[in-house]
Amino acid sequence: MLNLEKSKKLFTHALEIIPGGTNTNAKRVYNLLDMENFPAYIERGDGAYVWDIDGNKYIDYIAALAPINIGYSHPRINVRIIEQLEKGSLFSLPSPNEVQLSEMLIDKIPCAEMVKIMKTGAEVTSAVIRAARLATGKEMILSSGYHGWHDWWTAKIGEQGIPACYKNLIEDFEFNNYLQLERLVDNHAGKIACIILTPASYGVEPKDNFLQKARKLADQKGIVLIFDEIITGFRWAMGGAQEKYGVVPDLAAFGKSMANGMPIAVLIGKKELMAPLKTNMITSTFASEALSIAASIETIKIIEEENIIQRLYYLSDRLRAGIKEISQRQNFEIDVMDPTPAVKFEFLINDVEKKKKLTLEFIKQCAAKGLLVRQDGTGVSLCVIAALSGDDVDYTLEVLNKVIGNLKNEL
Ligand SMILES: Cc1ncc(COP(=O)(O)O)c(C=O)c1O
Repeated sequence: MLNLEKSKKLFTHALEIIPGGTNTNAKRVYNLLDMENFPAYIERGDGAYVWDIDGNKYIDYIAALAPINIGYSHPRINVRIIEQLEKGSLFSLPSPNEVQLSEMLIDKIPCAEMVKIMKTGAEVTSAVIRAARLATGKEMILSSGYHGWHDWWTAKIGEQGIPACYKNLIEDFEFNNYLQLERLVDNHAGKIACIILTPASYGVEPKDNFLQKARKLADQKGIVLIFDEIITGFRWAMGGAQEKYGVVPDLAAFGKSMANGMPIAVLIGKKELMAPLKTNMITSTFASEALSIAASIETIKIIEEENIIQRLYYLSDRLRAGIKEISQRQNFEIDVMDPTPAVKFEFLINDVEKKKKLTLEFIKQCAAKGLLVRQDGTGVSLCVIAALSGDDVDYTLEVLNKVIGNLKNEL
C-alpha cells in the first residue's frame, strides 16, 4: 500500500480553490484512479522516473500525457534552457531562435513550407481551422479525434457554454471508416472547409490506405486536409505520421513532444494556405517565449543524434512482446494493439462492468509496485520514454506478470 498522505491532503485543499482540483483535466487523480491508491502530485522527474510528494518513486508510463519523449530533466535540454534564461525568456521583439526553429521544422516535416509558433495544441488546431476556412471561404469541418478544448471542437461533444450554432459546423467521423467520410463529404457537398484527423494514436494505425484515400478525396473536392500530429509528431517519426505513412496533408498541427515537456506547439503547412495568415488575427503575447523555442531546437537535435524514435519503437515492441507472452503464460486474454511507438492493450472480458473494474484494479496494483499507467478508452496505454532502461522494461514485465496473475484470480 502506498503512503499518499501529503498527496491526499494537498489535493483535498486544491478541490476547494481550483475547479476540479487541477488545471489539466486528464491529470486529476480521480480521472486516473482515486486518491487512496494513486498519487495526486509529482514533485520531480529524472529520465523515465518520477517522484510524488510523499517520496514514492515510479516508472512513468504516462509521460506527462506524451510530451516527454526523451526523458525528464535531460541535461542537454536543461543547459540550453538555462543559457536562454540567463539572456531572458521573453522580449519586446522576437528572439532570433524562432527563425532557426522554423527552418528546422521546414527541413524535417514533409508538409511544412511555413511555420507559426504558438503554445498549446488547442491553440494551433484552432488556428489551422481558421486557415482552412480563410482559404476556402467555407465553414463546415469534418473531424476525427480529439483536437483540444476550444469551442469549434467541444461543440461537437455537446459541451455547455458554447453557442448552439457551432454544433452545426462540425461533424464527426470514425478513424479508418472511409465510407462514412465519403458519405459526409457528399452530404455537405460544397460547404466543407476541411477534413481534420488524428492520423494515428496509441495502438491505432491507419488501415486499408485510409490516409491515401482521404488525401485523394480532399483533392477531388477542393477540401483542405489537416493532420493533427499533436500526439504523432516527433514520436511516430521526426516528421510525424505524414512521414511514417507517406501521406502529406495541406496543413498540420504539432505540439506535445517537440520540446520534451516545454510548452510549445506549431501550425505548419503549404505556403499558399499559411501566407494569408499574416493579416489574420491569430496572435499571442507568449508565442515568442524563448525558453521553449530553445528547448525545442535542442530536443530536435537530440531526437536525431540519439535515434530517439527508433528507441521508442524498440521499447514499445519489447513491452508488446512481453505482454503477449504474459497473456499466454497466464492464460488471460489480452488484445495487444497495433505496433505504434506507445503501447495499448485491452483485457478481453465480455462483461463491461467487470472489465472496467479489473482495468482499474490493474492500474491500482501497478501504482503500488511503482508503475504509473493510464486507462485509455476501454484499455490501458503505456507511453514509453526513451530514457527507460532494459532493466526498467524487465521490471515492468515482472510487475505486469504478477498483477495479471492476481487479476486472473478475480475473474
Ligand atoms: C491529438 C490531440 N490534439 C490536440 C490536443 C490538445 O492539445 P493541448 O492539450 O496542448 O491543448 C491533444 C491533447 O491531448 C491531442 O491529443
